[in-house]
Amino acid sequence: MLLFSRSVSSTNEWAKRSALRKVPDGTVVVAEVQTAGRGRLGREWFSPKGGLWFSVVLRPKIEVAEASKLVFVASLAVADALGEFCGLRAETKWPNDVLVKGKKICGILAEINSSGKNVNYVVVGVGLNANFKVKEALPKEVVETATSIEDELGRQVDYNDLLFTVLGKLGKVYGVFINEGSDDVLKRWKEYAVFLGHEVTVKVDSEIFVGIASDVASSGALVLQLEDGSVKEFRVGDVTL
Ligand code: BTN
Repeated sequence: MLLFSRSVSSTNEWAKRSALRKVPDGTVVVAEVQTAGRGRLGREWFSPKGGLWFSVVLRPKIEVAEASKLVFVASLAVADALGEFCGLRAETKWPNDVLVKGKKICGILAEINSSGKNVNYVVVGVGLNANFKVKEALPKEVVETATSIEDELGRQVDYNDLLFTVLGKLGKVYGVFINEGSDDVLKRWKEYAVFLGHEVTVKVDSEIFVGIASDVASSGALVLQLEDGSVKEFRVGDVTL
């Protein structure tokens, strides 16, 4: 089922309300504009017209730890779609960003509703900067670090074709994840992960760690080789290259 609205506060909120009303697995809600789009860690997500703002309701029969890897499923699908549909060389950044030439083009916000270890539903929200120029449509504070398909290609793309390409890829990667587990998804995700092998800064709350990002473990954790030679795994955090 695919639902479309001209304007909502946040497609993730819309999807969560729909999930509680028992919409089927795989329901997609899309909005032309979000008035209160949300990013990770309670941040604001600017969602002007021209972007692809949607959320999917999923009901996988897996445990919470596995479901937390859905951010890799979604960012891999977007990276594949950007390559195939736009000819753009996408990069993934742990845990849930897609970049082009080091600038953020897409963010994923996955929200899990669970009872104990078991997942009731997951809402996976995808925000892809598409048919607008960042300088004209987004606020000053993100202009240096964000990009869009229009900025990268110098032209707009067909909105529906883009949406269905991304959804098609998402369906494919999700199918592999559900049927075969996360190994292949993580392996392919890492092929886009240009930050691996480089020095990064990881911020967790107010703590800052600097080291070489050596791997993403099978759990989805970021593995960092710290300057003192020790190895630390991160389940949450913000990475700066
Ligand atoms: C991030 O990078 O911090 C995540 C951004 C996620 C944005 C998308 S847009 C569609 C969906 N609805 C929201 O309110 N957020 C996600």
